[in-house]
Amino acid sequence: MLEFIDVSYEVSGKEILSQLNLKVPLGKTLVIIGPSGCGKSTLLRLAMGLIKPTAGQILLNQQPLSDPLSGENKLSRGMVFQSSALFDFLSVYENIAFGLQQRKKLSPEEIKQRVIQVLERVGLGADPSLLTKRPAELSGGMQKRVAIARTLVMEPKIILYDEPTNGLDPIMAGVITELILQVQQSLGVTSLVVTHDLKIALRVGDEIGLLFQGKIRELGPPSAIMESKNPLLRQFIAGIPAGSLRTNGEW
Ligand SMILES: Nc1ncnc2c1ncn2[C@@H]1O[C@H](COP(=O)(O)OP(=O)(O)OP(=O)(O)O)[C@@H](O)[C@H]1O
Ligand SMILES: [Mg+2]
Repeated sequence: MLEFIDVSYEVSGKEILSQLNLKVPLGKTLVIIGPSGCGKSTLLRLAMGLIKPTAGQILLNQQPLSDPLSGENKLSRGMVFQSSALFDFLSVYENIAFGLQQRKKLSPEEIKQRVIQVLERVGLGADPSLLTKRPAELSGGMQKRVAIARTLVMEPKIILYDEPTNGLDPIMAGVITELILQVQQSLGVTSLVVTHDLKIALRVGDEIGLLFQGKIRELGPPSAIMESKNPLLRQFIAGIPAGSLRTNGEW
């Protein structure tokens, strides 16, 4: 279980998250939706341990994330970044193998096997010439799949996805959505997905939470979210500019 307890995060005197509480049960997928600038990426960076909360605690299996003894915890999470964040100067193979070479004691042959296996899992196993290509030679959808492969190859127990369908056409967004679902179902990983794409939220989420003004304003399974009378959610779902929900932090 990944748990946020009264977590606040302040930067340059501005409170982005404010005593936020959140639980992601093991093996489940929690999707956080919310307008641009509401703090979704910040929430994932906190869960990954890249930044520390100003106040409150983040627990992973009842252990504080900040606990220096919980080294194993650090290895058990993987993040798929909003921009894919592949290394431009490395090939697809080198991008995926990078983490294995750094962190796991594996022979080059074992690394190669794992890279090939994971590329098959993300649907990129058919074309071996892909291995030597640079990220710039791939479409956005392929880059996203390579980014997911790079995270999966480390065998994380928890995967954090930041806007996994951002900038993709609806068909490729559907492919990535199904991939996330398939990874969750076949590997039993726990997933925290942040997005403003309602379609992916409804498809992959066991629960969906709306983040706004630093807190989770509504939380429930997809059916309850769609039927909710919460005016913030209604405005978000309908995409109406007028209302309490403002983007880019202009609250
Ligand atoms: N290091 C930082 N310094 C200053 N402001 C920051 C920093 N990190 C985040 N912010 C601010 O915090 C707010 C939340 O940012 P965040 O990137 O988490 O939003 P988001 O919900 O992921 O947005 P988007 O949907 O556009 O990706 C924004 O107003 C942003 O400008
Ligand atoms: Mg973001």
